[in-house]
Amino acid sequence: MSFPEQSAQGLAANLAMTQGKHSLFEDAARELPIGVPGVFLDEEGHIRPVSFRETETCFTCQDHELVETHFPLTIAKHHNAILEADSALPRPQITGKRVAVLFSGGPAAGGHNVLAGIKAALGHENTLLGVRKGPKGLINGDVFDIRKEDIENIFNTGGFNFLGTDRTKIQTPDQFARVKATVLNNRLDGLVIVGGDDSNTNAAFIAEYLEREGISCSVIGIPKTIDGDMAAGRHLPISFGYDTATKIFSEMVGNLTQDAASAVKYWHFVKLMGRTASKITLEVALQTKPAVALISEEIAEKDISLDEIVDRIVRVIVERRLRGLNHGVVLVPEGLVEFIPEMRRLIGELNRVLAEYEQDIKDLPTLKNKQEFIYPQLSPASAQLMASLPEEIQEMLILDRDDHGNVKVSQIETEKLLIEKIRYRISEMKRHTDRYFGHGPGRIDATPEEVEKFKSISFSPLSHFLGYEGRSGKPTAFDATFTFALGMTAGSLVLAGKTGYMAAVSGFDKGGKVLALPLSGLIACEVRKGKETFVIQKSLVSTSLPSFQFYAAHRDQWAREDLFSSPGPIQHWGPASRQLPLTVALDQGYADYRSFDLGEEQRVRFE
Ligand code: FBP
Repeated sequence: MSFPEQSAQGLAANLAMTQGKHSLFEDAARELPIGVPGVFLDEEGHIRPVSFRETETCFTCQDHELVETHFPLTIAKHHNAILEADSALPRPQITGKRVAVLFSGGPAAGGHNVLAGIKAALGHENTLLGVRKGPKGLINGDVFDIRKEDIENIFNTGGFNFLGTDRTKIQTPDQFARVKATVLNNRLDGLVIVGGDDSNTNAAFIAEYLEREGISCSVIGIPKTIDGDMAAGRHLPISFGYDTATKIFSEMVGNLTQDAASAVKYWHFVKLMGRTASKITLEVALQTKPAVALISEEIAEKDISLDEIVDRIVRVIVERRLRGLNHGVVLVPEGLVEFIPEMRRLIGELNRVLAEYEQDIKDLPTLKNKQEFIYPQLSPASAQLMASLPEEIQEMLILDRDDHGNVKVSQIETEKLLIEKIRYRISEMKRHTDRYFGHGPGRIDATPEEVEKFKSISFSPLSHFLGYEGRSGKPTAFDATFTFALGMTAGSLVLAGKTGYMAAVSGFDKGGKVLALPLSGLIACEVRKGKETFVIQKSLVSTSLPSFQFYAAHRDQWAREDLFSSPGPIQHWGPASRQLPLTVALDQGYADYRSFDLGEEQRVRFE
C-alpha cells in the first residue's frame, strides 16, 4: 500500500472515531478539571456529600399567607428557613438510596454536570436513576439506571440529550397519582427536578403532594434557565446556563458589530432569547456595547409606548448618520412585546377572553373566525392595536401558549415588527423633513445640508434571532463548575432527607457558599390565562441594580460612537476562561469579573 493510500485510510478511521460526540474538542473537554467548593471535600481531599444546618434567614414572598395554605406540610417541616452546608457537621453515611433526576423546560449548558454532581454525592453505594423526556417521562414511569460510564461520557458536555426534556406541567389529580406510582414502583427516596421557575414550582407541589400521601421521598429543585430569571439575590446570583448562553450570543453579536463597522451599510436587529426577562440582553449589551439595547423592564417601568421606542431608535439611526455612521446593532429582548404598555394591556385582555371562552374559541375552525369572536370582547384601543399588528403576530398571540400559559415569545418576530415601523418612520421623515428637523422639542437639530445628507441615506436592516444556538453548547468553565456543585448540593440534600428545597450556590468570588432555599418561600400568586396561579417569582432586570445603571450611564456614548467590543469565542482554558457574567459581578458587588472562585480545580473521578 502506498503512503498516500495508507494515510488516507488512517485519516478516514480517525475521522470515524469522532462520531457520537468524540470530536477532538469534546474528548479534551471531558478531561478538563472543574472547581469543587471546599465544603464538599473531606480531610483527604475526596469529594463527599455534606450535611446542612438551618440558618436564621427565612424566605417569604408577597401573598405568603395564601401560599402557606397550599404548602402546609413542607412549611411545617422546614419553616421556610434557608439551609447552609457545613463541613464541620458529620457527613451523611447513607447507603441504598435510590434517587431519580429529570430535566424540565428548555435545555441549558451544564445539565450533564448536574447529573455528575448528584452521582458524585451519592457515590457507588446509592443509585442514580434518570427520567427520560422530562415531567412527561415521570408521569409515564420512563426511568432507567445511570451508570458510572454514562456519567464519564457526558461529563462537561453540552445539551440535555442524555435524558431529553419537555414542558409538561404536572397539575391534574391523575398526573399526580401517576407520579406517585412512578415513585413507588421505582422505590425512589429522592427526586431531583432540574428546571426554571415553572418546573421548580412543580417540584414544590410534588414535594407537598408526596408528604400528604405519606411517602418519604425528598424532592429537590435545581435552578436552570439560560434566561437568568431563576435567581434569588445574594443567595442565588444566577441560574445555570446563563453564562454559557450569554457568552455564545456575545461572540455572535460581537462578530456582527465588527461586520457592521466593516461593511458600513447594515443595521442589524438582533432579537435575543430570554423570554420575559431582559437579563440576557443586558449581559450581551455590557459585553458588546451596541448602538441600542432595549430593556423591557425599563420600558414597562417608564411606560414607553411602541411609537416612542421606534422614535428613540430612529433618532439614534439619524444622529449616527449625521456623524457619518450608517450602520449599527440593535438588541431586542425576546419578551419585549409583553412589556410595552399597550401590548401588555392587549395580552392581559386576550388572556382573560381566552380563559373565559377557551372551548368556544377552540371550536372555531379558522383564525378569521376566532378573530371575529375575540375582537368585540376587547377594549376599543386593544382591538385597534391587535388589528394593526401583522397577521402572524396576531396568530401567535391568539393561538400559541405553552403548557404553563406563557405566550410563546420566542416565536413572535418583534425585531421584524420594529424594522417595519422604523422603515415607515424614516420614509415619513424624508417626505416631511420640516416636521422632524430644526429647533424645538422632539426635533433633531440639523443644518439644511445635514437634512439633505439624511435624505440620501438608505436604511438597510437585517434581522436575526439568537436563541437555540446558545442553549446547548459545551458549558463554560463557570457553568461546568457551578452545575457540578448544584448536583452535589441536591444529592447531599436527598441523603440528608430534606424535601421542598432548591439547591443554590453563591459567593462565586470566595470559593462558593452552598445553600438550600425553601421552594415555598419563593412562590407568589400570579394571574395566568386569567386565573390565579402559584408560581416562583421571576427575577427580572431592575433599573436600580448596578448592572442596569452601568449600562444606562454608557449607552448614549455607545449610541453616538462605534465603541463596540468583541468578547470572542468562549475560552475553555486560557486568559478569558474564568470570566463571570458582568451582570452578576456588578450586581453582587464583586471586586473583579475576571476570575470566579468556586473551589480548587480537580479532575473528577467517578466511583
Ligand atoms: P426555560 O426557562 O425552560 O429554561 O426556557 C428558556 C427558553 O430558552 C426561553 O428563553 C425561550 O423563550 C423558550 O425557552 C423557548 O422554548 P422552546 O424550547 O419550547 O421553544
